[in-house]
Amino acid sequence: MNLRHLTSIHDLDDRALVALLDRAAAMERNQEAVEELLDGRIVCTAFFEPSTRTRLSFEAAAHRLGARVIGFSDPATTSSAKGETLEDTIRMLGGYADLVVMRHPVKGAANRAKAVSSVPIVNAGDGPGEHPTQTLLDLYTMRKHKGKLAGLKVGLVGDLKHGRTVHSLVPALLRMGAKPVSVAAPGLELPKELAASCPVASLDEAAAECDVLYVTRVQKERFEDAKEYEAVKDHFRIDADLLRRTKSSAIVLHPLPRVDEIAADVDALPAAKYFDQARSGVPVRMAVLASLLETTQ
Ligand code: NCD
Repeated sequence: MNLRHLTSIHDLDDRALVALLDRAAAMERNQEAVEELLDGRIVCTAFFEPSTRTRLSFEAAAHRLGARVIGFSDPATTSSAKGETLEDTIRMLGGYADLVVMRHPVKGAANRAKAVSSVPIVNAGDGPGEHPTQTLLDLYTMRKHKGKLAGLKVGLVGDLKHGRTVHSLVPALLRMGAKPVSVAAPGLELPKELAASCPVASLDEAAAECDVLYVTRVQKERFEDAKEYEAVKDHFRIDADLLRRTKSSAIVLHPLPRVDEIAADVDALPAAKYFDQARSGVPVRMAVLASLLETTQ
């Protein structure tokens, strides 16, 4: 795979995307075989925005491959607090590490970083832009539990306007032959370029028809007006009662963190796969790190 950076799901053609999922599955099956694969390499996690799963699963992935990790998770402790530009920070990090995983509140930040970086950049979320490695683990989890991606009907529920995970997921689902359906909270519809390829459904319709319900959090931090957030934050709530109206084989995913959009009574049901989904972040990110670092060896 000749991949230099991963800042958008469009950086991966269909073959590369499937190859990464296959490689993640192989790594999950046999972790011992790869524990020295990145021996001597240094991965930097540069997180300008809060994160639990993404940063820690990238760091766990790096450690499991034998790499070392440096980084920061609070930009207030870095020179960006002194006014350093993103570009200057990235130029420097390339002198310290072999790859930079970055998260930033501004859409397009990962592409700005890529333009000046001497080492591979992985976009771990750029504001409301994209989150391509989340998409890989979403697809990985769907394929694992449903056996395939082609033909799957996937209901996307919640904040589809600001949710960067769905912005990467929708194009990937379409390319894999799946059928995304939009169940947006009012005013939080998909951006125009994605909406054109996603039919709209109510939550009840999606529950009855879909193989996967992909639930997302209303992205409080992206609202300029707190009142607008308050008005929509509780619009959807997935609970055990709703799940009685889904196909018996349907599964529920969520990139997490959840707030109130999935009730706790769903957690014990066989359909609830969101914690397993989060766990898949490690093998999937192992495959991403290995593939990017091998091409720069
Ligand atoms: C998502 C994100 O940061 O975009 N979280 C994650 O990476 N698992 C979703 C969210 O914050 O709602």
